[in-house]
Amino acid sequence: MPFVDRLPRRVTVVEVGPRDGLQNEAHPVPTDTKVAFIDRLAAVGLPVIEVTSFVSPTAVPQLADAEEVMRRVARRPGTRYLALVPNERGLDRALAAGCDAIALFTAASEAFSQANVRASIDETFQRFQPVVRRARAAGLWIRGYVSTAFHCPYSGPVDPELALSVTERLFALGCHEVALADTIGRATPREVDRLLALATRLFEPSLLALHFHDTAGLALANVMIGLDYGVTVFDASAGGLGGCPFAPGAPGNLATERLLALLDGLGIETGVDREAVATAVAELRRAVPGIGAHAR
Ligand code: COA
Ligand code: ZN
Repeated sequence: MPFVDRLPRRVTVVEVGPRDGLQNEAHPVPTDTKVAFIDRLAAVGLPVIEVTSFVSPTAVPQLADAEEVMRRVARRPGTRYLALVPNERGLDRALAAGCDAIALFTAASEAFSQANVRASIDETFQRFQPVVRRARAAGLWIRGYVSTAFHCPYSGPVDPELALSVTERLFALGCHEVALADTIGRATPREVDRLLALATRLFEPSLLALHFHDTAGLALANVMIGLDYGVTVFDASAGGLGGCPFAPGAPGNLATERLLALLDGLGIETGVDREAVATAVAELRRAVPGIGAHAR
């Protein structure tokens, strides 16, 4: 059977540029510009857009306007607008802003968890419990992130068993989808293969998402491995927005345009107009010159 015939026919591209991209950009982006960018990304057919984070504005000043952005984006019917929530305080803010989908984030590495949210992995789950209870009662859709699923910037390679146990706990908690994230863009196709061989035995591939950064130039190769395991949800950032704080000068998130070029080239449907994504990025660059300078 030709290789492409065993890949999924359709893939969901999750656009994380407005959150994961902009949180790592040094250029301040006015709220109006963010809202216009998000509305354009929805209009080009991206089915899921990660809009912002309801985290501490001291931790991530770039997203301090989370409420306003969330309230002002045009809610396109059929588009899912996601926001990151670290704790109950974040959920209160997300609910007040009218969110209907949230993402919780923890890590497969203790060192990264401490650096990112000042809590151990166990403590993040303690924080999540009331969040999930209330979010599910309010009918919210919930994604869980496993950051540093492959490599940690502080403690090095991550044991796949740790990533699997965190994934298992996120599903047990009540997440609808779990995203395995290569936070620093260091995963190799062999490492992705190893983790997915185990993960797809334990979990439905359709409930898993893959979140790659292109720091080492291997993001698309890693996507190919994911497709071969039947994964159908992939994250990407329009214009490759977002550097990697641990790799200055290196490209950040996998660019949505590059992911779409691969998927289009494989004949996999996404419902997204690749040219129109490039136009949305050009509009953003016109409004904020110099943004996304590291992107491939
Ligand atoms: N929204 C806004 N402010 C929040 C908040 C939230 N969800 N959660 C906590 N805060 C505020 C508190 O009110 C407090 O403010 P103050 O200093 O003015 O009193 C301050 O943040 C510290 O609160 P505390 O509960 O002690 O949290 P912490 O310092 O242990 O930080 C997090 C925990 C999770 C809130 C913080 O580390 C964070 O927001 N991290 C985000 C990391 C991130 O987004 N990473 C990228 C995604 S992978
Ligand atoms: Zn990321």
